[in-house]
Amino acid sequence: PRVLILAGGLSHEREVSLRSGRRVAEELRDSGCEVTVTDVDDRLLDTLRSGQVDVVWPLLHGVSGEDGAVRDVLELVGVPYVGSDPAACRLSWDKSVAKGTAGEAGLSTPRFVALPHGIFRELGANRVLTSIVERLGLPLVVKPARGGSALGASAVREASGLPRAMVDCFAYGDVALVEQQVSGVEVAVTVLDTGTGPIALPPVEIVPDSGFYDYDARYVAGATEFFCPARLPDSAVEAVKTAALAAHKAFGLRHVSRTDLIVDGSGIPWFLEVNVAPGMTETSLLPMSIEAAGLSAPQVYRDLVETALA
Ligand code: DAL
Ligand code: MG
Repeated sequence: PRVLILAGGLSHEREVSLRSGRRVAEELRDSGCEVTVTDVDDRLLDTLRSGQVDVVWPLLHGVSGEDGAVRDVLELVGVPYVGSDPAACRLSWDKSVAKGTAGEAGLSTPRFVALPHGIFRELGANRVLTSIVERLGLPLVVKPARGGSALGASAVREASGLPRAMVDCFAYGDVALVEQQVSGVEVAVTVLDTGTGPIALPPVEIVPDSGFYDYDARYVAGATEFFCPARLPDSAVEAVKTAALAAHKAFGLRHVSRTDLIVDGSGIPWFLEVNVAPGMTETSLLPMSIEAAGLSAPQVYRDLVETALA
């Protein structure tokens, strides 16, 4: 099949997306596909209508890629694509919406507040900051409600660190998600569905040298230690896989997703978010779990393409 990979885009995760796109293109070519990688601009419609593309793989991270906007265009043109439909993307993209959906599906998720930027001016910054700590306590994690790759995200141990964290967060988006930091083991669980029903791959355990899985910890080789399979008791591995499968189903996701969770001291998984376009770079989590499952990336990617075409 002739595959068009969409990579780049104008989100803060542009560079990551370009890396994901290059990597997946190589693996798909190894599996015998004909692959073109392109950025998204106003020529996209012509390309989609040219009859030269059998299937699209939107590997765009962040806004327009993960919020469903570009997939709306793919739906409109009627070209098959790998991954979830626009409605499922919209449910997953805003973390405060996603946490609500996860809660309704019976998953635990850390307590949180979502704060639009304007509320600081309306109510006064001190009052807002004080009420956050009163309601949620410490430590906290602050991140843009709509974003990715931990851009604008930080951990806050003391109330004095909260203003800085909010400023960093609002540099990347206009709604801040502030949630209780659950201490435990951070894991990511990939779910694949290549036509025979969703399966959860072995969880990847994330241990960043810096203690916080920020942008550098994600994309600088060696900055984070990964354990795949995770060093968790079998019961906790089962629990995170079950949670990821429940999220995949509850959000109505298709083909591939990655759910990020923290396993607390009693083995309970806490849902953080679900990704419809998980990173596929050299240091990303999804390729690690494919390897740990004893699968080959070119074959898995080829299967996803064939599933989208079926
Ligand atoms: N947002 C990045 C690409 C990830 O979730 O892997
Ligand atoms: Mg994400």
